[in-house]
Amino acid sequence: MARILLVFGIIGCLWQGGYSLKYDNHTLLRFLLKNDAQVEAAHHFHDPEGEVEVLKVGRGVNDTMDFLVPPNKLSFVNEFASSIGLKVEAKKKNYGRSFEDLHDERTPRRRYLKSFNLYEYHSFGQIQEFLNLMAARHPHLLTLQSLGNSYEGRVMKLAKISLNPRAGNPIIFVDAGIHSREWVAPAYALYMIHRLITDPAAVQPGGELDGVDWYILPVANPDGYEFTRTARSNRLWRKTRSKNGHCYGVDGNRNYGFKWAVSGVSKNPCDKETFAGPKPFSEPETRMVRNIMMENSKLMKLYVSLHSYGQYLVYPWGYTGDILPKEWKKLDSMARAVSDSVKRAGGKPFRVLSAGKWYPAAGGSDDFAFGAVGVPYSYTMELTDGYEFLFPETLLREVLPQFYEGFRTFGTHIKKEFGRDRLKWKAADEEE
Ligand code: ARG
Ligand code: ZN
Repeated sequence: MARILLVFGIIGCLWQGGYSLKYDNHTLLRFLLKNDAQVEAAHHFHDPEGEVEVLKVGRGVNDTMDFLVPPNKLSFVNEFASSIGLKVEAKKKNYGRSFEDLHDERTPRRRYLKSFNLYEYHSFGQIQEFLNLMAARHPHLLTLQSLGNSYEGRVMKLAKISLNPRAGNPIIFVDAGIHSREWVAPAYALYMIHRLITDPAAVQPGGELDGVDWYILPVANPDGYEFTRTARSNRLWRKTRSKNGHCYGVDGNRNYGFKWAVSGVSKNPCDKETFAGPKPFSEPETRMVRNIMMENSKLMKLYVSLHSYGQYLVYPWGYTGDILPKEWKKLDSMARAVSDSVKRAGGKPFRVLSAGKWYPAAGGSDDFAFGAVGVPYSYTMELTDGYEFLFPETLLREVLPQFYEGFRTFGTHIKKEFGRDRLKWKAADEEE
């Protein structure tokens, strides 16, 4: 018995921290961009070996840019920074150590789902259970549509929330979690599903569900999501998990077939961040979203792709910063109204601009919805700021309701412009 305990003790020790994890000795460097020349130069930063990971690009002057840097590249990046007169902040040394609370975030697998805490991160299995339970309890409001299987065979379920699916209401479509490490996005999507269904105000006349249908895909990359949960060293995985040569994964948000791969992508399957895939829609996960978009193209009026981090709300075009769609002012003003609502609820405002002016990157779901499907309003929303990809569970309770206020504003605007009762809405507006 004692011997068994001893053996387990040793295994336990190794597990607790005996391994050197991939990011343990990495440093999170933050550039503080102070002028246009620095912005321009920083956007063109290039590490020939691809060992430096760009976690977040800066929008422009007074914004920040984050790099995850291995020890052998620290002086290279620092020299680059000083060559353009940039101030660098070493935000976090031994970055991988900050994943230590990961084990707490992985809630144990329960046999039965008695209660689902919306302010925790969950496994894909638990999320599926939660969706099934909600659909069984609220069949008049929530239908689950299976879209198909992920590469590894996980069933992707779309939550369709509607007071009257036959009414032909305008549809708001939300995808979340296409980048697996951005856990706060699925967490918010689930909060939104739950709130739309259980908040009595949502079904009232004038409420969120009155005249608008909400289609929400909470986990758009289930294989990647589960992979980020398997080990601390996988926590920052972004791509899908398909096999391409000897490397894994495609960046789902570079894989959509509109202006595919014209900018901001890697052609290298081993690139950890932005490999666009061997061809457009090479991934089953992006094909499923494409199909459901096409099937609902007529009624879909707003598309929102949820990501983290940085608190940006960006609109097409994403593939280029050289041109804007002719409707850009409408896209811009709706985004600002959403940002204002979040701010009024106590949250941080969003940085609003076109995705391509932030940094050009082709093949995103936002551009496909807008450019190929013809959805009139399309956005990428980068949730949270200040914690990079490891947004603490303990803060979910505070921020998720704030984001929801932004979505209520989305809903109101869509209703006004496209709802069957839009004349009524207009009249009420003019009377005010
Ligand atoms: N962080 C997101 C990404 O890199 C931003 C996408 C914005 N949209 C776009 N089409 N570039 O995927
Ligand atoms: Zn993302």
